[in-house]
Amino acid sequence: MSRGDNKVGSEKATGGQVSILTGDSRTLLPTLPAESIQCCVTSPPYWGLRDYEHDQQIGAEPSPRAYVDSLVEVFDAVHRVLRPDGTVWLNVGDGYARNGGQGNCGPNAKVGNTKKMIQKRNCKVPEVWGLKDRDLMGLPWRVAFALQEAGWILRSRIVWIKKTAMPESVKNRPTNATEELFLFAKQSGYYYDSKGVREESGANLRNYWRLGPDTSGAGHPAAFPRELARRCILLGSRAGDTILDPFGGSGTTGAVAQEEDRNAILIELNPNYNELAKKRVKSSQRRLRFQV
Ligand SMILES: C[S@@+](CC[C@H](N)C(=O)[O-])C[C@H]1O[C@@H](n2cnc3c(N)ncnc32)[C@H](O)[C@@H]1O
Repeated sequence: MSRGDNKVGSEKATGGQVSILTGDSRTLLPTLPAESIQCCVTSPPYWGLRDYEHDQQIGAEPSPRAYVDSLVEVFDAVHRVLRPDGTVWLNVGDGYARNGGQGNCGPNAKVGNTKKMIQKRNCKVPEVWGLKDRDLMGLPWRVAFALQEAGWILRSRIVWIKKTAMPESVKNRPTNATEELFLFAKQSGYYYDSKGVREESGANLRNYWRLGPDTSGAGHPAAFPRELARRCILLGSRAGDTILDPFGGSGTTGAVAQEEDRNAILIELNPNYNELAKKRVKSSQRRLRFQV
């Protein structure tokens, strides 16, 4: 995969500033100026998977329908801050409805010694969408359709093919090794730099990306690969633009935005991850200085 020739020219772009805010996106997004963001690159918590140790965390809702509603609320707030020609790049994972399992049910239930896992989905099949035991919930598409209904234009579904799949002890279906990444626009005429990233052959970039693993977000359990963020940023913005990540985590989006001469605003609930994000942003600053 090659990068397009959209490097900063002789005129100096005013990128490279990263703001890291601690709090709930639903509270902090309304404090940002309207239409100030060109591109949102993000990955929310997946429903019922990890415990990010905060009462306001998204992903611990009692039902997957409430999870979809939480995300619609966040992206309504993103809609206001996005420029009219802006885009959202959203990576969301799926999960299975399960009956049984062990341990307690309900949000933040702790099971065995996997303290950090919210094991709701291993306790009781959610009573929604006709789900049955062992049904794949289809959450990425349910979120995508809900956002479509909320007014977003769904422009692409990119399949992130994981070079190294997480091992699964299953014998009755193939191992999952892909995730969805959706491209949404606010209006039909949106900014997209098709030269920002190309196939090696020079052809237009395809909608399947073979990426990872990437250990640069170590210290966070669910960081996405830098290359994933880089592609979204190069395709969806110009140097000097501002990129938003309302689920900042370890700061991958911010570190890459800075390297690509963009500004970034990261919002993250858990202050420990923000400390990690600050370190990563600082080290990408050092890398940039070294290159000059
Ligand atoms: C999947 S992780 C994001 C990882 C990030 N892309 C990276 O590369 O490090 C989702 C993050 O959202 C945070 N989070 C959960 N609920 C939130 C909320 N209501 N507002 C802001 N952040 C939230 C979690 O603490 C977690 O770090």
